[in-house]
Amino acid sequence: MSDDLLALVAATDTALATATDLRAWDAIRVGVLGKSGSLTEKLKALGALPPDQRRERGAAINRAKDAITAAIETRKAALESAALDAKLSGERIDVTLPPLLAPPGLIHPISRTMEEMAAIFGAMGISIAEGPDIEDDWRNFGALNIPAHHSAREDMDTFYLPGLNGDARRRVMRTHTSPVQVRTMLTQAPPIRVIVPGRTYRADHDATHSPMFHQVEGLVIDRGITLGHLKGCLIDFLREFFGISSLPVRFRSSYFPFTEPSMEVDIGWNRRTGELGGGDWLEILGSGMVHPKVLANCGIDPREWQGFAFGMGIERVTMLKHGIPDLRPFYESDIRWLRHYGFSALAPVALHEGV
Ligand code: PHE
Repeated sequence: MSDDLLALVAATDTALATATDLRAWDAIRVGVLGKSGSLTEKLKALGALPPDQRRERGAAINRAKDAITAAIETRKAALESAALDAKLSGERIDVTLPPLLAPPGLIHPISRTMEEMAAIFGAMGISIAEGPDIEDDWRNFGALNIPAHHSAREDMDTFYLPGLNGDARRRVMRTHTSPVQVRTMLTQAPPIRVIVPGRTYRADHDATHSPMFHQVEGLVIDRGITLGHLKGCLIDFLREFFGISSLPVRFRSSYFPFTEPSMEVDIGWNRRTGELGGGDWLEILGSGMVHPKVLANCGIDPREWQGFAFGMGIERVTMLKHGIPDLRPFYESDIRWLRHYGFSALAPVALHEGV
């Protein structure tokens, strides 16, 4: 390498060593390798050389370029890991400290809502069922009376996975908690009383939709269950959950393939202030009487047993109850957000205190 190239490599090394952040690093990179950077200028000058000198000079410039590029990348990695270390040590929490010295851990609002739901429905004699996040097509759709090519499959913007071990049947990230209705009916003899809190997935991402979110399903099957039971159960739940004994609740006829009749449930809410109870309506859940075909698909005789089901978004009711304006921070693990919206782990949900 000629002297001017050796000098440029050395000068770049020195400059990189003094760059303490990525902004300074980038200025150096552009100054050498950018469109009119010092090394780029040398490459451009090659054209003016006689052909016999050009080849040797070109090879030397390329060697210098390799050395400089390697130094620049190494410095970038070092600066990035230093920045990460600084961020991590700034947010460090010593989980081994005794509780009075450490800032106490807090319960995430999603977990808190699930606990409250378990307490309220538990007091009605309803227990908890769970199912896997990865389902097969039949449990997520088919058994629920959503045939192949039904538009509900598109409404739900489904994430698909290939079948396991060469199985041609694709699997689905469950788009709702309703497949656990199917699982429960297939494994438990009626009467059945369950809620199903859990994660659900749809290809949807903006300020009010996340590709992963949470729902709670409800399923009650017994002899002689009517729409009256459904309404009573949900009105009681909503008033207890939101802590407003006169909360207006409206049932509006709707359609789901797996319930007949189907109803959306709205609560009173003020569009302008976001306050609960006010004169506008806000839809918060879907519900209905379990479709006889769904009962039959799951081995339950619809002439003997009837039931109701509902499905509710957990984020939506949590945001409403606590006045949380944005959905995105729910999943960002930002300790400041958790300190603000989290709940004390030492204050368990207790119905007699109100939830
Ligand atoms: N699974 C429906 C949804 O995700 C909600 C629902 C559940 C409706 C049970 C009726 C009965 O939109």
